[in-house]
Amino acid sequence: MNITIVGTGYVGLVTGTTLAELGNTVYCVDIDAKKVARMKQGSVPIYEPGLEEMFLRNIQAQRLFFTTDIKEALDKSEVIYLALPTPPGEDGSADLSYVISVANQIGEMMTDYKVIVNKSTVPVGTADKVRETIAAKTKIPFDVVSNPEFLREGFAVEDSMNPARVIVGSESEKAQEVMAKIYQPFTNTGIPIIFMDEKSSELTKYAANSFLAVKITFMNEIANYCEKVGADVDKVRLGMGSDDRIGHRFLFPGIGYGGSCFPKDVKALIKSGKQEGFDFQILEATEEVNQNQKIILVSEIEKYFKGNIEGKKIALWGLAFKANTDDIREASSLDNIKILLEKGAEITAYDSIAEDNVRQVLGDQISYAKDMYSALEGADCLLIATEWSEFKNPNFELMAQKMKNKAIFDGRNMFALEQVEDKGFFYKSIGRKTLR
Ligand code: UDX
Repeated sequence: MNITIVGTGYVGLVTGTTLAELGNTVYCVDIDAKKVARMKQGSVPIYEPGLEEMFLRNIQAQRLFFTTDIKEALDKSEVIYLALPTPPGEDGSADLSYVISVANQIGEMMTDYKVIVNKSTVPVGTADKVRETIAAKTKIPFDVVSNPEFLREGFAVEDSMNPARVIVGSESEKAQEVMAKIYQPFTNTGIPIIFMDEKSSELTKYAANSFLAVKITFMNEIANYCEKVGADVDKVRLGMGSDDRIGHRFLFPGIGYGGSCFPKDVKALIKSGKQEGFDFQILEATEEVNQNQKIILVSEIEKYFKGNIEGKKIALWGLAFKANTDDIREASSLDNIKILLEKGAEITAYDSIAEDNVRQVLGDQISYAKDMYSALEGADCLLIATEWSEFKNPNFELMAQKMKNKAIFDGRNMFALEQVEDKGFFYKSIGRKTLR
C-alpha cells in the first residue's frame, strides 16, 4: 500500500519506518527542508536503538521516501497518517492548530478517496473536527480514523514492531478494511487489533497514559508513607505486584514521572474534562503529588545540611527524564537543579547522552563532568535523578575517595540497601530506611 506520513517527529518517523518495514511504500512529509534533505541522505534525526538500521534498510529498498511536497505525496497515497505535534497550550489543553491546518491542505489537495489516520495524541472529538475541516473543502469521499500510538521512548522500534495491541477508531467499514490490511502482518502474528468508534479510541490513549501516571504516583505515595512507618517499599512493591491484577510493572517509586507524554496527557485530560464540566479529581491529585515528588529530595538534602546548602557542591548523576533517552522534557533533574541553584548550591552533572540537550537550556549555570566519578570530585553529596544502568553497580571505594562528604540522595532507588550498607555512606532513597 502507498502511505503518506505528515510530520516526521518522533512518532511520525518511527511510524513511517515501521510501515515501510511492513512492506508499504511510505512518503514522509515535513515542512523542515533541511531535515528532509538530511533524511534523504540517510541521516536519522533522533536516537532510538535499532531505528537507524531499519531506516537505512528501507531507504535502500526504495520503500521509504522524504519530501517537503505534501501534494506530491498525497497524490501517490491512499492512506495519510497525521503525526503532528499537539503541544499543550497555556491552559494545558492540546493545541490542534497543526492538525487542523494539515486537514485543510488535505481537503484542498485531494483528488480521490483517502483514509486520514490520526496518530497524534488528540482530545476526544478531534476526528470529528478533522472530518468537518476536510468536508468543508471537498466533496470527494474520505474517512477519518483514530489510531493512537503507544510506543515508549528508548523502545520505539521494539514497541512499534511488536505492539501490545493496535487500536483503530472508525465506524466506516471501508476504512476498517484498509487499516486491517495495513496491520495484517501484526494480526498474523497474534497481535490483537481492536476496532471501536473514534471517540473511544481517542480516549483510550489518554486513559492508558493517565492510568500509568496514577499507578506510579500511587506507588510514590505508598513509598513516602513507608518512610513514615518504617516499612520497605521494595518489599511492598513485590508483594503487591505478585497479584496479576496489579502486575510488577510501573510500580517503581522515584522522584516522579516526566517526559513528553505523561505530564502533557494528564494535563490535557483534566482540561478536556473541565470543558465538559467534569472534574478528574484523581488526575488533579496525581499532578499535584507528582510535582511535589519530583523535588522531594531537595528538602532531604537541606535537612541533611541543617537548612543551608549555600555553596555546597552537589554531584548530579543523570539528566534525562528516564534512562535510554536523551530527552529532558519535564525531567525531574531540571526541577531539582532549578531549586538547588536558587538556594545557592553548585552543581556538577554527568549524563553523557542528555548533556547536550541540558547545555542548550542551562548553558554554564551548572558544570558538566566527562564521567560519573569525576562528577564526584570534592562533592558534598550526590543526587541521582535518572536510572542509567551504569550507575547500578558503582565502585563505592572510588566514590568515597572522590567525594568530600559521603552522602547519597538516590531518587531512583538504584542500589539495594545491602549494596550500600557498611560502605560508610549516608544513603537516602525513596520509601526505604535511611542508612547513616
Ligand atoms: C509513555 C508510555 O509508556 C507510552 O505508552 C506512551 O506512548 C508515551 O508515554 P515514555 O514517555 O517514553 O512512554 O516513558 P515511560 O517509560 O512510560 O516512563 C514515563 C515516566 O515514568 C518516566 O519519567 C519514568 O522514569 C517514570 N516511571 C516509570 C517511574 O517513575 N516508575 C515506574 O515504575 C515507571
